[in-house]
This record gives sequence, structure tokens and C-alpha cells, in this order.
Amino acid sequence: RILVLDFGSQTTQLIARRVRELHVYSEIKPCVASIEEIKAFSPRGIILSGGPASVYDEHAPKIPKEIFSLGVPVLGICYGMQLMTHLLGGKVEASAKREFGPAELKILDNSDLFYGLSLDRSYRVWMSHGDRVEALPQGFEAIAESEHSPYAAIKNSETRLYGVQFHPEVAHTEIGREVLSNFVLRICGCKPTWTMKSFIERVVEEIRQKVGPEEKVICALSGGIDSTVTAVLVHRAIGERLVCIFVNNGLLRKGEVESVLNLMASLGLNLRYVDASERFLERLKGVTDPEKKRQIIGHTFIEIFEEEAKKVGDVTYLAQGTLYPDVIESVSFKGPSATIKTHHNVGALPERMKLKLIEPLRELFKDEVREIARELGLPEDIIYRQPFPGPGLAIRILGEVTKDRLEILREADAIVLEEIKKSGWYRKVWQSFAVLLPIRTVGVMGDYRTYEHVIAIRCVDSVDAMTADWTRLPYDLLARLSNRIINEVRGVNRVVYDISSKPPATIEWE
Ligand code: XMP
Repeated sequence: RILVLDFGSQTTQLIARRVRELHVYSEIKPCVASIEEIKAFSPRGIILSGGPASVYDEHAPKIPKEIFSLGVPVLGICYGMQLMTHLLGGKVEASAKREFGPAELKILDNSDLFYGLSLDRSYRVWMSHGDRVEALPQGFEAIAESEHSPYAAIKNSETRLYGVQFHPEVAHTEIGREVLSNFVLRICGCKPTWTMKSFIERVVEEIRQKVGPEEKVICALSGGIDSTVTAVLVHRAIGERLVCIFVNNGLLRKGEVESVLNLMASLGLNLRYVDASERFLERLKGVTDPEKKRQIIGHTFIEIFEEEAKKVGDVTYLAQGTLYPDVIESVSFKGPSATIKTHHNVGALPERMKLKLIEPLRELFKDEVREIARELGLPEDIIYRQPFPGPGLAIRILGEVTKDRLEILREADAIVLEEIKKSGWYRKVWQSFAVLLPIRTVGVMGDYRTYEHVIAIRCVDSVDAMTADWTRLPYDLLARLSNRIINEVRGVNRVVYDISSKPPATIEWE
């Protein structure tokens, strides 16, 4: 397996993915990982990612030099290559000619890293660097050049250390796959045997080894793909000793409780269902501040979860569906970013309850989890389910959350979902839902004046929820949504479509 050390590049995640696409297992660790931790991972090769720093910055991330004498091949990418050069005695300097974007790469040696590629033509690669290597460390030679980088790729074949100034992991580098494949399969000698199936087998075995015969694991189920896949994996490993807890907070969509319960029953999971809707609604009474709502819901959830866990008894582990994008936020060394919204999760739970964690998906991306779900035979419904926030409909009801207002939003939301699915847009968009606004407007129905609620429709395209754009839904679909909502949902006389992108707006309204 291959270890990727992260120096904070935007594309580090892609490196690990590309390696896994070659069917070789790969994990990312922050560059501050200790040498012991690195050795314990026993990688067959190490890739140093790019990063925003310059090796001469005061706080530039460094790594122990010992990494280069572990006897495993190392590939430095961009900052990774500069750091390697710097630590091994070469020279890196700020370059007058910075390279950002495409560059033409001329290969000088196609015996290993560029195996199979031609010396007679140039290849388009993606560069993004201010500094460049000016003098090579001893034992190194150039194996490719570009117009502004005489050392666009370097190697020391004796110690099997390689460096590339360009980014092989991005799609714009036309030979990216070849370079990574040559490094991973040829130079490191990894066998391409990693598949989702073997991943599942390994994870299940690891959980089985980890959890003692008398110990129990709990897991909070939401009906979403991450928690469901997590639960199914743990269930495969330890069966009934996994207890899943599904809390109905009274803020779920129409028909959702039933469908989650049906799904869990069909998967044979050991489930505790708690209907706590009254408790949540009671606490939300009179609350209109978005952050306050989130906090109340978060605390109440933890309280209930804790009560239930106590009833189960002998619980030592909490299983969570944390994905890689959730992890990287917390290990990044760029410092904490401002809290825009307090996300609802069970983050504080393990410490409070002294539980150890099981997070089988923490190295994976959403689409890899989807692949696992498919491999596990989960229904399509789950695999392609749009994300739904932990605080549920409460953050889509602006103003106070009451039973009546929940009812209005549930009906409107159900219509949005139904029409979006019927017209084939459900899987094409990131999320599509209804929001209930805290105002009333004047309308006319029959010959009467009305003074009723407004529903906003939100539908966005996104790949990771970090940025999003509003979906250009066809006018006739929007017209149908508006017509049906106004005609079928009592108390609504106006529908608007949200045309804000993120940033500066967010996907949810609260
Ligand atoms: P925003 O509104 O911040 O949402 O643009 C980004 C994504 O996160 C979802 N979201 C949440 N998910 N707990 C969750 O599990 C939360 O508290 C929460 N708040 C927002 C939102 O639906 C979108 O996909």
C-alpha cells in the first residue's frame, strides 16, 4: 500500500484516489505524522503531496529526513519535490518565471517513471508553482524538462527517490495516470489487487479483531448512505452486538420514519427506535435563532442517544460514518476556519461517554462509499439519496418550528421530491428541497383575498457542498412545482425559486 503525506495541497485527496483507481490501497496522513507512525503503516511507497508553502517559509512544513532512507521509493509532487531537494542538499529558489496552468513537458528518460512514453514529442502537464529546483542533490538527474523548469522531473535511481514539478493527479495532466501507475506498480512493485470487495473483507475482519467478544458497538442511524453502510459493515463483523439507534426528532420528511424502519428491517439490523419528536418540539418552542435551533437539536440528540446507550449496556465503541472530507478539515494545519454553521453530528459523544471509535469509511470519498453500498447490495434508493441535514426540517423552517408549520413544509417538500424524481432530475442535482419562509403575502384565490405563507424552492448543483450553484431547472418543471404546491398545500399562496450560489449564500437557509 501507498502512503500519501499531505502538505496541504487542494489536490492531495485526488492523489490517494488515483492510486486506489489503480487498485492499490492508499491512505493520506498529515505531514506532521511521526516517523514511527509512518513505519507502522509499512508502505511500499510514499508520495509527498504539493502544498502552498515555500521551503524557505518560517513555518514551512518539514518531514524527518529519515523518510528518504526507509528503503521505500518516494515520489515528491511539486512542494513535495522541492522539499525533497531542499532536505537532501539541492537548491530551491523563487523563480522569476512562475508556472501556473498548462505546460509542455519534454521527457528525457523513459526507463522507469515515464516508462511507455515517447521521447520524441512533448506532453501537456499541469503546473502550479512559484519556487523551482535550481540545483539537484547529489545522485539525482533530470528526467524531464519544461520551458521554465529544467528540472521538471528528477530521480535518484539508486535510492529510488523521484520528484515531479507538475501534478500527475489532476485530469489536465495527460500522462498523469501513466506516471502514477509507473511509480506505484513498476517502481514500488505494488500488485493491483485492491477492490471494493477486498476493502469490505479487510474492514470487516479488522472490526472483528478490534471488538472483544463481550463488547458492544452502537451506531446512530439516519437512513443516509454513510451511516447505513457503516452499520452494515459493522453488522457483518459482529452481528447482533451492533445496536443501531434511530432517533425520530420530529423534523424528518414525509414518510421518512416508515421508510427508514423498513430499510433497517430488511437489512436485519438490531435496531432501537426512539420517537422523541415531542421532546424536540417542546424544546424548540419559541426559538427563532438559527444557531440556537442547531444547538438545541444537537444537545437533545446527544442526551437521547446517551440514554439509549445506557439502556443497551456494555457499550465500548461508537461506529460513525465519517468520510475523508470530514477528516481532512480536522487535521489540516491551516488553522480553524470561522464557524458558519454549527454542524450537527455526534462529535462530542465519544469523549463524554468514553467510547472508542470505529470509522470504517474515513479514508473514502462519497462516490467510493456509493460503490461499497452497491457491492453490499443496498437498495438504489439509499445509494443515490440526496444529503439531508442532521437538524432536518427545523433549519428549513425560518422562524419558529411548530407542528402546523412542519406540516406545511412536509407537504410542499414531498411535492418537490416527487416532481424532481419524476422528471429525472433527482440524481442530476446535489440537493432539491422546499423552505418555508417566515412571511405571509397577499394573493387572490377564487374571488377572495388570501394572506398566506411563501415556499421557496432550493435546488443546487455541487460536487462537495463546499461550493454550489443553483440548478437551471426547466421553466415548465418550475411551473408544475409552483402550481402543485399552491393548489395542494393548504396555507401557501406563493412559491419562489432561490437563484443564489454558494458562496455567498449557503445551501441551507439557516
Ligand atoms: P450549507 O448550508 O452549509 O450546507 O451550504 C452544506 C451541506 O451540508 C448539509 N448540512 C448539514 N448536514 N448536519 C449535517 O449532517 C448539519 O447540521 C448540516 N447543515 C447543513 C447541507 O444539507 C448541505 O448538503
